[in-house]
Amino acid sequence: MSEQVRKILVTSALPYANGPIHLGHLLEYIQTDIWVRFQKLRGEQCLYVCADDAHGTAIMLKAEENGVTPEQQIATVKADHERDFADFQIRFDNYYSTHSPENRAFSEMIFQRNKDAGYILEKEITQLYDPEKGMFLSDRFVRGTCPKCGATDQYGDNCEVCGATYSPSDLIDPYSAVSGATPVEKQTIQLFFDLPRFEPLLREWTRSGSLQEGVANKLQEWIEDLQPWDISREAPYFGFEIPGYPGKYFYVWLDAPIGYMASFKNLCDREGWDFDEYWKADSDAELYHFIGKDIINFHGLFWPAMLDGAGLRKPTAIFSHGFVTVNGAKMSKSRGTFIKARTYLDHLNPEYLRYYFAAKLNSRVDDFDLNLEDFAQRVNTDLVGKVVNIASRTGNFVAKFGGNLGPDLDNPLLVREAQEAAERIATFYEQREFSKAMREIMTLADHANVYIAEKAPWTLAKEEGRDKEVLAVCATALNVFRLLVLYLKPVLPELAARAEAFLNIAPLTWADHQQLLLEHDINKFSAMMARVDMAQIESMLNDSKDTHTRAEPKAQAATSDAAADDDSADTITLDDFLKVKLRVARVSRAAHVDGADKLLQLTLDVGEWGERNVFAGIKAKYRPEELEGRLVVLVANLAPRKMKFGLSEGMVLAAGPGGEDIFLLAPDSGAQPGMEVR
Ligand code: MSP
Ligand code: ZN
Repeated sequence: MSEQVRKILVTSALPYANGPIHLGHLLEYIQTDIWVRFQKLRGEQCLYVCADDAHGTAIMLKAEENGVTPEQQIATVKADHERDFADFQIRFDNYYSTHSPENRAFSEMIFQRNKDAGYILEKEITQLYDPEKGMFLSDRFVRGTCPKCGATDQYGDNCEVCGATYSPSDLIDPYSAVSGATPVEKQTIQLFFDLPRFEPLLREWTRSGSLQEGVANKLQEWIEDLQPWDISREAPYFGFEIPGYPGKYFYVWLDAPIGYMASFKNLCDREGWDFDEYWKADSDAELYHFIGKDIINFHGLFWPAMLDGAGLRKPTAIFSHGFVTVNGAKMSKSRGTFIKARTYLDHLNPEYLRYYFAAKLNSRVDDFDLNLEDFAQRVNTDLVGKVVNIASRTGNFVAKFGGNLGPDLDNPLLVREAQEAAERIATFYEQREFSKAMREIMTLADHANVYIAEKAPWTLAKEEGRDKEVLAVCATALNVFRLLVLYLKPVLPELAARAEAFLNIAPLTWADHQQLLLEHDINKFSAMMARVDMAQIESMLNDSKDTHTRAEPKAQAATSDAAADDDSADTITLDDFLKVKLRVARVSRAAHVDGADKLLQLTLDVGEWGERNVFAGIKAKYRPEELEGRLVVLVANLAPRKMKFGLSEGMVLAAGPGGEDIFLLAPDSGAQPGMEVR
């Protein structure tokens, strides 16, 4: 341990104020909390701040949908978030909001300093505008048919079906996800942050060695192609109006990271910490941001550049993690694996999840699979079967023989081994190699359990005159137990508190591993942790199943947490695939659609499945007359979809990159309309 106390400021990403905390989020907050608790246990001066990310179009529209003001919306969500975090034992030094006076002041300051230094550009650009709603539409609020594959209902920036990226104006039949109206193009002046000027700085910062390998590589790639960053948005917008630009607002991603500073300032004002000591350009404090891999660009490019442009320090490092999958697939509402923090808490002990995350987390950016069977088994085997078991097999004998641990250890070497593991375990915690720390701890627990089984205190206790020996065995086991609890304390603070009460000791700190517990009165042992039962997991999944019909496209578009909050899993099971009914259909009529550049209207004969009307984005390739009479493959059980030009009752399959390169027809091989295709 270093002589000098480290000054460390830690943040987790600020969750959006438009939805509940779910298990995906929790990976991050639990990972951060474990690291922070470890630092505090070691006696470092470590402060952990966070806040709700309260601004942006998504939140504005969410409030509208709920019939409340944005202020009411963010207040309700913040209260829910704080309760969820507290119940998962995530202990912030401050939890604040980006919609705060401190954040406004810092946002204005950082903007002004960058502007004075010449890093802010004004540019006229063309943007899509919703004439009905009277607002500009960012990428996510324009939807339409993918120009590449013809999939309907895709976002303005990329297609979730074929993965193509494009700009909103390329969409076929674009519509506003807010009102359904057809957007028009409109000129506006926007403010840009001149990111390319920071290329040398970013290169140096990326190479400084403090970034994870995957993150550094990704950043290098982006640095090759830096573009000015659009930091302004037009009214109506929920956020901070830009000084000197009436009707224009800071883009949510400008003021969001500044929210870290604002939350810290709020803490300083309450507790007396020195704000500048942490944020001045030559600060000797350490600053770490824990984030998910989806927001690396904001934290690895824009944020250090803006800080530097404003004459402030840059982060010491960014610690990025991967995404949570459940049972090997993206979290899904229909499968019941989109599990909210609250739903989990209704069924299971939060420490189970904290332990499972710790047991599998490392310092890399890999995705994290929460396999629920493995989860139950891991918790039962390790925590209940190994750690708590040490106390439950020995604690009661001490009570029986007077409640005092006595002066002797039966096996000092076993205890010494556990003491000597302290530095190794500390290094693993420090490096965020939590799984390695957990493995060390469980190995020590294994040794203690083997020892207890060999000594069999329950047999000894029945023999006359061996009280002292029994006590020395129990003192050995309970001293190891005490050390294991100490090492697990960053992960399992509640279990540690129970164990401290049982052992009748003051709250453990890391340095306590050097001491032994002898000639000490302890309390009666009582159960510390129950086993996980698969039935609890089943009912949690049941409660997570979305019983409502699928969300409207509009509500979907308004969700910023698209990463987890949708059902488009990366893989589908065979069962999923078998649900798709593919049928041969004959084109009985094909026609142009008035006002549609890329669509044809097809009337299909699907045999026993009847007649279908389908709109297909294949006009670039096929003339209506060459289609009539030909066979195609139809997804026959797709829910009908209302389009601008009428109801589309199914989807015709095609292959190819799109435009003119699209191949639609099944060979005329004697197939009959209505036949199954496999
Ligand atoms: N508001 C922004 C962050 C602003 S930070 C200045 C945001 N919010 S979020 O609510 O979408 O996500 C918050 C954090 O949770 C992010 O770091 C994100 O990567 C993480 N996760 C959200 N879903 C996740 C999973 N399914 N798995 C792991 N982490 C995920 O982004
Ligand atoms: Zn597509």
